[in-house]
Amino acid sequence: MKIAVIGANGQLGSDLVVAFSDNGDAVCGLSHAEIDIADAQSVTRALEGIRPEAIVNTAAMHHVENCEREPEKALAVNALGARNLAMVARDLGAVLMHVSTDYVFDGSKGSPYREEDTPRPLNAYGISKLAGEHFVRATTPRHFVIRTSGLYGKSPCRAKGGLNFIELMLKLARERGEVKVVDSEVVSPTSTAELALQIVRLSRSDSFGLYHATAEGSCSWYEFAREIFALTGTAVRLKVASPDEFPAKVPRPKYSVLENAALKSRGLNVFKPWQDALRTYLGDRVEVSSSQTAHT
Ligand SMILES: NC(=O)c1ccc[n+]([C@@H]2O[C@H](COP(=O)([O-])OP(=O)(O)OC[C@H]3O[C@@H](n4cnc5c(N)ncnc54)[C@H](OP(=O)(O)O)[C@@H]3O)[C@@H](O)[C@H]2O)c1
Repeated sequence: MKIAVIGANGQLGSDLVVAFSDNGDAVCGLSHAEIDIADAQSVTRALEGIRPEAIVNTAAMHHVENCEREPEKALAVNALGARNLAMVARDLGAVLMHVSTDYVFDGSKGSPYREEDTPRPLNAYGISKLAGEHFVRATTPRHFVIRTSGLYGKSPCRAKGGLNFIELMLKLARERGEVKVVDSEVVSPTSTAELALQIVRLSRSDSFGLYHATAEGSCSWYEFAREIFALTGTAVRLKVASPDEFPAKVPRPKYSVLENAALKSRGLNVFKPWQDALRTYLGDRVEVSSSQTAHT
């Protein structure tokens, strides 16, 4: 298939380019310099030149505090940007695969959210992403809206900058010997490499619609850190941080675990437990760093 990946140098986008290429697809990766999804003309120009069979949108404004400060900008990218893509996808006869978020929920359910649960976002980021979902769903029937959560991958997340959670934990442990992590937010940390494989799998289906797509199981950020240190044999004093030590500047869901109910009911779910995906990430990381050492 001919696939356009938007946000191609991002955390998820870069793994998608690899996964679709490995699948034998013709992939055209578009960076922000090559397409601005908030600008309808830019979207038309970039995609008409490619005429893809499927467009995968990973581009978003998703730094939660920045979205709260600049809600118009968040809406321009996350909502109107999604609409721009949906209209061009419809006109080109392309399938739109649009990535969304667990932050469309308020976290009060206390058990894993299914696709039919009613969203109720707590912040501007979640509101803008939910509006984007609605635009996609209302504009083109040939869509997949894919909600995911707690991403980590080989490439850093461009919106948040710096290191992913795993690399940050390992760095802090190395430098300080003691790490404090909050225990009050429960998520399903999801590997972008695994999510990319899921998206490739879904691209071969015509069961369009809304999908939850996260690693199996859930943990708090504290439990995630504990597993990272256990799997890497890192000696560190790990402590639970009290909520006032890292006060949240913007309200966030305390519990945003998603159940991949639609993927499972259609026999399409590829996700393993989050601990397995973490082990794979750490294994690849060791191989990369030892091969880098061997070359220097
Ligand atoms: N990261 C998470 O933990 C998480 C959790 C749940 C859902 N999600 C969703 O997953 C998706 C991918 O996240 P990610 O971590 O891979 O993000 P990322 O690393 O920040 O990548 C996003 C990409 O989109 C590009 N971009 C931003 N604004 C754009 C625009 N107006 N037009 C075109 N490109 C634009 C960015 O380019 P520049 O950096 O050059 O601007 C970057 O290449 C997002 O839709 C996000 O909402 C993420």
